[in-house]
Amino acid sequence: MINIPKPIQKPVLLVLLIAGITLLHYSTDQSHYYFHVFYGELYFVPIVLAAFWFGLCGALLVSTTITVCYLPFIFWNWQDFSANDLDSILSLLLYNGLAILVGVLKGRETKAQEEVLQKENLAVMGRSLAAAAHEMRTPLVLIGGLARRLLKKTNHENPDRLKLDLIIKESDKMEKMTGDMLNFSKPLTLNLMRENFSTTIQNSLLTVEEVARRHNVSIKYKSDPAAEVVAIHLDSLRFEQVIVNLVLNAIEASPEGGTVTITLSLTSSGNAILDVTDNGSGIPFTKRQKLFAPFFTTKKEGTGLGLPIVHKIVMAHGWSLQIMDSATGGTIFRIKLRESNLNEHI
Ligand SMILES: Nc1ncnc2c1ncn2[C@@H]1O[C@H](COP(=O)(O)OP(=O)(O)O)[C@@H](O)[C@H]1O
Ligand SMILES: [Mg+2]
Repeated sequence: MINIPKPIQKPVLLVLLIAGITLLHYSTDQSHYYFHVFYGELYFVPIVLAAFWFGLCGALLVSTTITVCYLPFIFWNWQDFSANDLDSILSLLLYNGLAILVGVLKGRETKAQEEVLQKENLAVMGRSLAAAAHEMRTPLVLIGGLARRLLKKTNHENPDRLKLDLIIKESDKMEKMTGDMLNFSKPLTLNLMRENFSTTIQNSLLTVEEVARRHNVSIKYKSDPAAEVVAIHLDSLRFEQVIVNLVLNAIEASPEGGTVTITLSLTSSGNAILDVTDNGSGIPFTKRQKLFAPFFTTKKEGTGLGLPIVHKIVMAHGWSLQIMDSATGGTIFRIKLRESNLNEHI
C-alpha cells in the first residue's frame, strides 16, 4: 500500500477527486446527459472539502482547477449556445461562487473559534499569573526592604555593600516584573476623571526621564496649541502605565544619542492623536502580530508584558492603537482617541 505523508494526504485526495470526476466527464458520451449532470454535482465535494480544510484560498484554488479542467470539455461539446452549454457555463460560475461563499464563511468561523480559544487561554493564564505574582510579591518586598536596611547599617568601606546593592537591584527588577504580571492579569476597572490630556502626558514623562538619561536618549514632547487645551475622561494612573511602557520600549529601541518624540495633535475632525516615535531600526511587519501576545519579548531581561498591558488599557478606554513606520525607519506607536472623549476643554 502507498504510504502518503500526512501533510499532503488532503491535497492528494482533492487532486484525485478532481481528476476522477473530470475523467468521468471526458470518458462518458455527451448523449448521457444525466450522467454529466451528476458528475457536475460531484465537483461540489472537493470544493466544500477544500473550503473546510484550507479556507477561502484552498476553495478558490480547487474551483479554478475545476474550471480549467472542465472548460475544454464544454467547448469540445459546444452546441451553439444550447441550453446544455448555458447550463455548463452556469455550473462553472456556481463552483466559483460556492468556493467564495463557503471559504469566507469557514474563514469567519475559524477566526471566531480562535478568538474564543485565545480568550479562554488568556483567562487561564491570567489567573495563574495573578496567583504566582501575588505569592512572589510579599517575599520580594521583604528581601528588598531588609537589604536596604542592612545597606544603611553597613559602613562605606565594607565590600559586602556591592552584594547588597545587587540584591536590591535584582529584587527591584523582580518586583517590577510581578507588578507587570499583576497588572496584566487583574481585571481592569477604570477610574475615569476629567483631565487635561497634555498635562497628564507631561507628568507621565517625568517617570521615564531618568531611564532616558541612562540610555543617552533624549525625550521630546511636541503638541498642537489646540491640543494643549483638550480635556478628556481617563484613568490617569493607568494612562501613565501606557506612556511609560511605550516610551521605555522606544528608549530601548533607540540607538545611543537617539531621540524619542511624543507628539499630541488634533485631526481636522477633532480627534486627538498621540504618537510615540523612535528612531530605532523598526519592527518588521511579520513581528507586529505577535507584539501584543503576553510574554513575547526579544529582550534578554524583558517580560513581554508591556505591550499587552498597553493594549488592554487603551482598549478599555475605547481608544485605538496602531503601529506604523516612522520617517527615519523607526517605529510609531499611535493612540487615537475617540471624538466623544474630546468634547470638553480646560
Ligand atoms: N519601539 C519599538 N521598536 C522596536 N521593537 C519594539 C518596540 N516596542 C516594542 N518592541 C518589541 O516588542 C517586544 C515586546 O515589548 P513589551 O511587551 O513591552 O515587552 P518587553 O519590553 O518586556 O520586551 C519587545 O521585546 C520588542 O521586541
Ligand atoms: Mg516593554
